Amino acid sequence: MSLEFDIPENEELEDGVPVIEVRGLVSKFGSNVVHDGIDLTVRRGEVLGVVGGSGSGKSVLLNTLIGLKAPDGGSVRLFGRDLRRTSNRQWDDMERRWGVLFQSAALFSNLTVRENVAAPMVEHTRLSKGEIRRLADVKIALVGLPPEAAIKRPSELSGGMRKRAGLARALALDPELLFLDEPTSGLDPIGAAAFDELIKDLSDSLGLTVFMITHDIDSLYAICDRVAVLADKKIVAVAPIKELEKSDHPWIREYFLGPRGRAAEHAEGGARSGGGATRGA
Ligand SMILES: Nc1ncnc2c1ncn2[C@@H]1O[C@H](COP(=O)(O)OP(=O)(O)OP(=O)(O)O)[C@@H](O)[C@H]1O
Ligand SMILES: [Mg+2]
Repeated sequence: MSLEFDIPENEELEDGVPVIEVRGLVSKFGSNVVHDGIDLTVRRGEVLGVVGGSGSGKSVLLNTLIGLKAPDGGSVRLFGRDLRRTSNRQWDDMERRWGVLFQSAALFSNLTVRENVAAPMVEHTRLSKGEIRRLADVKIALVGLPPEAAIKRPSELSGGMRKRAGLARALALDPELLFLDEPTSGLDPIGAAAFDELIKDLSDSLGLTVFMITHDIDSLYAICDRVAVLADKKIVAVAPIKELEKSDHPWIREYFLGPRGRAAEHAEGGARSGGGATRGA
């Protein structure tokens, strides 16, 4: 029985309440200040891309949003609820509402793909073994893995298949919000384009909100509604990619004017160089 909160469990989000709302976030490791006043709002149903140089604090931001690192200042609200004022039980309810694909996929190496995908269901639901197994296989199919992948261990999969297995696990509890950290890194251009397509399809068909960290400028053009830029320890811009192109922030200019930026812009509408597929802008 919780007494101190005004918001009921598992409430539907009121219209207009952002899925993620970060205000004045400060993050530190000792004297290393990684974020110095981050403001960011993620709207329901959007695919938000997050870019920034290596070490700029993208993964730390993700870890903070999912409660793995406590903020050193400022506030984080998920689904309208302040993370600092969340009881254990409310936390457990909230945890079911998001899925995460970590930068390294972070699959359990001693478990099969099916067991990996089943793990969140074993932890958070009371479904029978048979039901869990069936649902895990549905998720495995949903991300485009062949059925025989279910009994393989992560070490027996290609990098792209591991990403898909990680995505299947992130989708295990039918989340409303999906966190992706570099989902296309290490994939060839065709595999990366296919993965983008998959994320886009999932977000369209399931109405998912997606928070996607990426270095992949093609992904920004292909699937992101807006892009947030992390630089100088802050979010320096949040806008649709076509508007960001006009920014005069030095890091953003360099990002677009570098060789990869130019290639992506020329292939605008979607196709990665050599990828062939035409994807809607
Ligand atoms: N557990 C930790 N302990 C101490 N410092 C950390 C820890 N995790 C991250 N950092 C520091 O925080 C900063 C941001 O790291 P982070 O991993 O968020 O970068 P990133 O933007 O995700 O980079 P990349 O694009 O390379 O993945 C770096 O200076 C890093 O050294
Ligand atoms: Mg990172």
